[in-house]
Amino acid sequence: MKPSITPTNTEHKMAENDFIVSKTDLKGRITYANRIFMRMAQRSEIELLNVQHNIIRHPDMPRGVFRLLWDTLQQGGEFFGFVKNLCGNGDYYWVFANITPDIGSDGNVKGYYSVRRQPPENAIQAIIPLYAEMLAIEKRAGPKEGPDKSIAYLQQFLADKNTSYRDLALNLYND
Ligand SMILES: Cc1cc2nc3c(=O)[nH]c(=O)nc-3n(C[C@H](O)[C@H](O)[C@H](O)COP(=O)(O)O)c2cc1C
Repeated sequence: MKPSITPTNTEHKMAENDFIVSKTDLKGRITYANRIFMRMAQRSEIELLNVQHNIIRHPDMPRGVFRLLWDTLQQGGEFFGFVKNLCGNGDYYWVFANITPDIGSDGNVKGYYSVRRQPPENAIQAIIPLYAEMLAIEKRAGPKEGPDKSIAYLQQFLADKNTSYRDLALNLYND
């Protein structure tokens, strides 16, 4: 069980040249965390290692985004996206994440790598209302149907803009 943390409104920003790096096994349990990850998440190595990456899940994040993340990885793809994360003391930090499969010497996927960079402020301002709407849809629909409904909303939002989540995220990052 994750101990419950009360979220605060205090944001910590990644520095321009910082990279937060973690590795996980196939189930998303953390097998490596760099120092910047520990510092930003306000967590020790002991707290992070061998636990599910959802230890830093922020309650403002819609489940639909994580569904997309896992679907992308399980199809052998690479995920790019914006994630709001929870610090050990309840504060938060936004990241631009790139998650890729970690391929072993036998050619099989043995886990995943995630590298996060500082997200541009304009990108976060564009993402906040989108995620807030997805979260509101999930709350209305309940845990069973919520992620499907919020993903349907996201797909329609992206179709209206003639884009994909990956391209939206990369364009927001590069703008
Ligand atoms: C390599 C990798 C990195 C991840 N990084 C994060 C992260 O920074 N924040 C996060 O909330 N979830 C991250 N996840 C997703 C979590 O494993 C989990 O699916 C998510 O937090 C939702 O958890 P829940 O289903 O228990 O609500 C990552 C997964 C992988 C495989």
